[in-house]
This record gives sequence, structure tokens and C-alpha cells, in this order.
Amino acid sequence: MKNMSHVTGHTSQKNPNTNQGPRGAVVTDQFQRPLHDVRISVIDRCNFRCPYCMPEDEYSHAYTFLDKQEWLTFGEILRLAKIFVRLGAAKIRLTGGEPLLRPDLPELIRQMTKINGIEDLALTTNGWFLAEKAAELKAAGLHRLTVSLDTLSEKTFQTMSGGKGSVGRVLDSIGAAALCGFSAIKINTVVQKGVNDATVLDLVERFKGTGHVLRFIEYMDVGTCNHWQNTQVVPSRELYRIINERFPLRPVEGNYFGEVAERYEFTDGTGEIGFISSVTQPFCGTCTRMRLSTDGKIYTCLFAGEGTDLRGPIRDGASDDELYAIVKKVWQGRMDKYSENRWLFRSLKATSKKIEMFQIGG
Ligand code: GTP
Ligand code: 5AD
Ligand code: SF4
Ligand code: SF4
Repeated sequence: MKNMSHVTGHTSQKNPNTNQGPRGAVVTDQFQRPLHDVRISVIDRCNFRCPYCMPEDEYSHAYTFLDKQEWLTFGEILRLAKIFVRLGAAKIRLTGGEPLLRPDLPELIRQMTKINGIEDLALTTNGWFLAEKAAELKAAGLHRLTVSLDTLSEKTFQTMSGGKGSVGRVLDSIGAAALCGFSAIKINTVVQKGVNDATVLDLVERFKGTGHVLRFIEYMDVGTCNHWQNTQVVPSRELYRIINERFPLRPVEGNYFGEVAERYEFTDGTGEIGFISSVTQPFCGTCTRMRLSTDGKIYTCLFAGEGTDLRGPIRDGASDDELYAIVKKVWQGRMDKYSENRWLFRSLKATSKKIEMFQIGG
């Protein structure tokens, strides 16, 4: 069980007797971690070029993204989702690239909500197309939304989106989504030292009291092309200190087993924020996440080099039971703990082949 003592030294524990703890899990991995969350990437393309994920110089028009025939069809995704649920998954997050670029996404959501056992269906988006799609997403039955927004400074935003987006449009999208009935929207902010760290208080001030929940993510060494360096990471405890000084905070009990964010609320009752500290305080011990790429491979870690192909077996006529057996075997053999062993892996260069963030959606 995760011991919540990371950012402030405060300790709290999540209840292992809820249905979200490892007890009674259908399948567990080599470290007794159950399968609970699946992140499904529905497209590998994105209209932004955030340098920490998809730098323009490597992903210009010369880069070959997946061909449509290589994408899992909605039928294939739904079939696999049912199998994941049989294996214990209860939470699905749709990601990309930018998932709103996938044609007819609301139809997938509509079908997904009919699957018995999916308790939580969420989507992570960069917000660019959200204003125009929010009503349809809501009508399709999407439960929750996460929008990425790294800063309110237009200039810094340009740097962090590869010159593609605009703060105003993302903020308008968040407003539009709220009007359509999405509440407690999560706002994901990746923090990079010397890039946007000086702008975090503005974000806090902007979202305090709105009911939306800002989460600060430590910049990570995902993928192979962002030239990550430890010196670019702002430890969550440092951010906590800066924010707490201006807007006093107190810790909140975690929502569920395996939650990645540590939660804090403002002592004046104006809402909460979270810290995702994968670099300074890894949470591999309670990692219940599996990722499905657009082309149908499952990955058991965000930092994995290899996935296991399910599209081949599906298109070769595998039965549901056969697919179930493949996924079960993969999960049972899982030993990933990259973030807990980051320095060892990096020194060994054992992970030189790593999946890119935009292929599995973070
Ligand atoms: P909620 O369901 O709202 O709690 O969201 P979540 O915890 O699933 O968070 P979200 O999907 O928004 O993830 C936020 C960010 O945390 C991701 O984009 C990643 O940057 C990071 N993250 C999420 N899961 C993992 C993980 O398993 N390992 C690591 N290292 N980072 C992760
Ligand atoms: N480190 C931390 N977070 C990242 N994201 C993308 N790349 C990185 C990285 N290198 C975040 C995005 C988005 C989510 C899908 O992942 O900003 O919020
Ligand atoms: Fe696109 Fe998100 Fe990657 Fe930025 S972080 S390039 S918005 S997928
Ligand atoms: Fe899970 Fe891998 Fe992230 Fe650790 S590094 S929390 S095992 S996805």
C-alpha cells in the first residue's frame, strides 16, 4: 500500500479493504499489483509539438505516423476493453497523441459506457478541440476530463507546445466543458525548471475556487527524444513549499489505491491541487496501470521498450479466451518498476529503446 509521506512528511494510508485494493484481484503481477487501470491510446497524432513529448524536429511531416489500417478499430478496442474488465480493470482513460483527433470518438465512448464493470471512463486532452466537442463527449457519457495546460503565460505556452497552441483557447475549452456539465476537471501541468516554474502561482490563483483540480507533474524521462536531464526537474516538495507559502495547504486522503497524485486542499476551503512526483517519489509499488497503444500493443510500464501485440492475434481470429490468456500471462509476468530504479536503468542504458509518450498517452 502506498504510504503518503512524500511531499510533506505527512502520512496517510488508503484503505486496502475497498474494492480497489489488491485483495480479491483477478490477476496480480510479480509484485502483487492488481490490474486496475487501462489507458487506451486512440491515435498517435497530435496537433501540438511539446518539446518534452514530440519535438518538432523529430516529428515534422517527414515522420510517418500509423496508417489508419494499423489503428485498432472501435470494435477491436471494445472487445479488448471487455477482456481487461474480466481481468479486473475498472478504470479506462482514453488518450493519444491527441484523442480528439480520432474520428467519431464519441461513438467509442457511447459503446464503452455500455460495458459492465467500467466504473470510471476519463479522457486526457490538450484542449485544442475541446470546446467544439465537449457537449458531444458529455452526451456520449464520458465521466471525467483531464486537460493539459502548462502555464498561463502565452510566451511560455508557445515554447511548451512547440508554437502550436494558445492559452486562451485552452482556457475557453475548459470553460465550455464546464458549461456542458464536466466538473472537477483535472488540469495537468508539467513543470520544467527555468521554463514554466516561475508561472505556477498564476495557475494556482486562476483555478483556485473553480472546482477544477490542478496537478503538477514532475518532468519525466519518458521516450527517447526529449533529452531529459535531472536538473530540469522541479521536485514537488519545492513546488509545495512555494505554493503553501502563498496559499496554505493541508493534505487530503488519497481517493483510491494506486492513485498517482498526492492531494492537498487549500486551508481556506477553495479547492484542492495535486502533485505527481514520479521522479523524486516514485509510486511503482502501487502501479496498477496497463497501456494499450493505437496499434494494439499492451505495455506494462510507461517506460517500457517492448509491448505485446494483440492486434495480430485478433486479426488472425483469436477467441476472447485466447486473448484473455495472453493478457493475463503478460500481467502475471510483470516486473516493471522503472521509476524506482531510474538511475540504475539510465546508467545501464538498458532502456535505450523506450516507447514514446504520444504512442501510449502518458
Ligand atoms: P485520475 O484518474 O484523475 O486520478 O488521473 P490519473 O492519476 O490517471 O492521472 P493522469 O492520467 O492525468 O496522469 C497524469 C500524469 O501522471 C500522466 O500524464 C503521466 O505524466 C503521469 N503518470 C500517470 N501514470 C503514470 C505511471 O504509471 N507512471 C509514471 N511514471 N507516471 C505516470
Ligand atoms: N514528463 C511529464 N509529463 C509529460 N507529459 C507528456 N510528456 C511528459 C514528460 N516528459 C504529460 C502531458 C500531459 C500528459 C498526457 O502527459 O503534459 O498532461
Ligand atoms: Fe501532444 Fe500531449 Fe504530447 Fe503535447 S504532450 S505533443 S499535447 S500528446
Ligand atoms: Fe508504473 Fe512504470 Fe510508472 Fe513505475 S514507472 S509507476 S511501473 S508505469
